[in-house]
Amino acid sequence: TKPVVTVIGSINMDLVTIASRVPSQGETILGERFRLIPGGKGANQAVAAARLGAKVHMIGAVGTDAFGKELLHCLEREGVSVDNVKPVTDVETGVAVITISEGDNRIIVVPGANHSLRPEDVEVCEEVIASSDICLLQLEIPLPVVERAVALAKKHGVRVILNPAPAQPLPLSLLEQVDILTPNEHERDIVFADIDASRFANPFIVTEGARGVTIIKNGQPTLIPGFSVPVVDTTGAGDTFNGALAVALSKGMSLEEACLFGNAAAALSVTKLGAQTGMPTEDEVQAFLKTKKGCSS
Ligand code: RIB
Ligand code: NA
Repeated sequence: TKPVVTVIGSINMDLVTIASRVPSQGETILGERFRLIPGGKGANQAVAAARLGAKVHMIGAVGTDAFGKELLHCLEREGVSVDNVKPVTDVETGVAVITISEGDNRIIVVPGANHSLRPEDVEVCEEVIASSDICLLQLEIPLPVVERAVALAKKHGVRVILNPAPAQPLPLSLLEQVDILTPNEHERDIVFADIDASRFANPFIVTEGARGVTIIKNGQPTLIPGFSVPVVDTTGAGDTFNGALAVALSKGMSLEEACLFGNAAAALSVTKLGAQTGMPTEDEVQAFLKTKKGCSS
């Protein structure tokens, strides 16, 4: 049977502009391409998990505007259950304005409807949360919602992965309930800003881009190296890793095996444009891992 992953998080439309360079202040330049691509860290992680073979429930909020409708359709097409995505009439759907130039991205997120999500909205989903193998969260929704969802998951003994992005300092009371935290290096420093990191006993995973990820267990680092691939767009690579990690752990893989699987999925995702548009299927990841067996990277 399929592992069940519940994602509590953001749903955005990504407005992606590709240009040869970034304009300076007050300057107008011509871009090369523009595309609307479904995104949002929550929805991205949900789609990644669904493509990799999980049954996925999404808990979130969208506006009743054109972007909101389109994003719901996209999630449904991926087989993600959107029964618990709240439509909000007074705020627009979340968007991310993304510029890709010189091999890098710059992102401005306007949360919109994502910030209309309330702790009550996750409370009514207690059964869905309780019946999940893993709950997966990020920080593009209000922190009280994250805290409530994590508390509900723990009440039912459900494993929690928190991808603390975008970063903010987090209370120890929340961190203690998170089974696996997945910051990048920058996020790790911000998340632990207000607390003594040595008091955090659970293992966590620091994502380091092309280098791979480092598992910190009992203060001991283990690097799980990444795969070198031709990079088209890194947007959503971290989301792909988190979705893959959730699926792999639900299937009973060890943390090390799950990180390797996540690295492979993330590597494949950066070879294509867009967050959700670039995410691989389970078969693609398995085939990729087979070609890489025996190679060091
Ligand atoms: O992690 C990538 C995502 O961050 C984008 O899809 C964008 O919507 C922002 O939320
Ligand atoms: Na991509």
